[in-house]
Amino acid sequence: MDQYADAGDGFDIARLVPGFRPPPHPDTAGAGAAQLRAADMRMRCWRSPLAGPLAPGSARHRDAVCRMFRDTFNPYRPAVLDWPALAPATLARIVALPIWDIAVQTEGKARLRMAAYAGTVLDPGMRAALALNAWEEHRHKEVLSRMVAAYGIALAPESPYRRPADPEWAYLVTGYSECIDSFFAFGLFELARRSGLFPPELVDTFEPVMQEECRHILLFANWAAWHRARLPWWRRLRFEARVGAAWAFLAWERIGLARSVGSGGGAGADAAAGQTRGKGQDNNFTLHGAQSVASGDVRLSDLLALCLAENDRRFAGYDERLLRPATVPCLVRLVLRCLPRRGGRAARTG
Ligand SMILES: [Fe+2]
Ligand SMILES: [Fe+2]
Repeated sequence: MDQYADAGDGFDIARLVPGFRPPPHPDTAGAGAAQLRAADMRMRCWRSPLAGPLAPGSARHRDAVCRMFRDTFNPYRPAVLDWPALAPATLARIVALPIWDIAVQTEGKARLRMAAYAGTVLDPGMRAALALNAWEEHRHKEVLSRMVAAYGIALAPESPYRRPADPEWAYLVTGYSECIDSFFAFGLFELARRSGLFPPELVDTFEPVMQEECRHILLFANWAAWHRARLPWWRRLRFEARVGAAWAFLAWERIGLARSVGSGGGAGADAAAGQTRGKGQDNNFTLHGAQSVASGDVRLSDLLALCLAENDRRFAGYDERLLRPATVPCLVRLVLRCLPRRGGRAARTG
């Protein structure tokens, strides 16, 4: 199996997706505030110029999805991001967050799994979109790596990243995992912003990364719809079984049946794609981490409502004819109906 040494960082998507060309290096260092604002705006709002429906599986749908992903690309460069000086208490709070190893490794695995699957896709437009998604995960890893270096956060050594033996399965697990994690990350990020515990410059630096995850799961939801609509019924059955298995696996992982939080076990999305986790950080941070980023107690119902509102807000700028990830928002709406309302007995996170 191929191995990709990480230090360096020598990851090369073109090895997995022949013909892939990284986006050109823009001069964002010399760009004015107006240009950066325009790029940020382009990333958040997009509408296909085509009139009429975009039926999943059709060439029109595929073209719209691929064009959305291309047109909303944000050319920021990790190398020129500013890392603000932090007060000692803020620095200590950031260093103590139990997420850095898992965050860096998750991006490292996501880029490889997405690129590995992209390399198997025959449609040139969809292949290019998925390869660009992998490239953006690589950029997320670079942003995180630069941040942990700037703030002196020690990382556990990364295990070698191995090319998945079954790229479609690895991509399904990674894609649905992103749908779950991004939904909760949107709410936690807003909670952190409102708390005032983190400097606004740092929040602003990560804002494009958050919006990129929104674009990623928008792409994934539409890829899944496009892909399944084009399958003959017997392959469709197999695909739906794999989707069900991916959800079952991720649910099993996240509700903690796989391992107790922080015990350092090797189960999880890593194991699903044939890898072991290097260190037992909190892969359920999205479900347990509200107290780490909030200035006071957070009611579970308030957190879930915030996640829903942020999810809707982040998707609002994109063409409504493109499909959105629906499972997690639907489940959360259901849970919210069952939770006691404000004034009743409080259910709390943490
Ligand atoms: Fe990412
Ligand atoms: Fe992503």
